[in-house]
Amino acid sequence: MRLLIMGPQGVGKGTQAAKLAEHYGIPAISTGDIFRYNIKNKTELGLEAMSYTDKGELVPDELTNKIVKDRLAMDDTKNGWILDGYPRNASQVEALDAMLADLGTPLDAVVALDADRDVLMERMAKRAAEQGRTDDTPEVIAKRLETYAQETAPLLDTYGERGLLVAIDGVGEIDAIQADIVAALDAKVA
Ligand SMILES: Nc1ncnc2c1ncn2[C@@H]1O[C@H](COP(=O)(O)OP(=O)(O)OP(=O)(O)O)[C@@H](O)[C@H]1O
Ligand SMILES: [Mg+2]
Repeated sequence: MRLLIMGPQGVGKGTQAAKLAEHYGIPAISTGDIFRYNIKNKTELGLEAMSYTDKGELVPDELTNKIVKDRLAMDDTKNGWILDGYPRNASQVEALDAMLADLGTPLDAVVALDADRDVLMERMAKRAAEQGRTDDTPEVIAKRLETYAQETAPLLDTYGERGLLVAIDGVGEIDAIQADIVAALDAKVA
């Protein structure tokens, strides 16, 4: 199973991706987590990425695409994977298309989670309190949501036109949402 999980900040992509990874026995790959790991460990990549993540801007495509390409080449990806937080703009969609064409491994589906802005803001405020992410300040959150609306949300149409989109309501109990996703995927990909 090769999946993307898409949706605005705070909608629960990481939470649902981890559960899907367990359900299907595939790795969940989050570009945001990879950047945060590198920032925490003060790697060269982390220092460069931080100058963008702390402003709520996208890390440059060249850097992000390379990270994904290297990650998809690792051994644990043979049975599939779920990508969380990538692609985020049209140029990353093109880059991913090229990677998957090279590997001969097409996408099976794109899970799109959605929720009202009030719900998203509330969840991110809670996460800021719990995890202290440096990009969960009100200003940076607003910037990230704006970037999402402008650059990422239009990609849902792209994948919809390809017949890959599975739209799921991201409001409700975590396990109920997970069950909705799995039911929709099993119906689609079987
Ligand atoms: N595909 C990407 N392209 C460019 N920058 C990215 C990409 N993925 C992550 N980043 C950078 O890392 C930051 C954190 O990403 P991440 O996906 O964890 O957070 P998010 O957008 O707040 O979503 P969520 O609320 O689901 O965690 C982004 O704001 C951006 O700067
Ligand atoms: Mg996340």
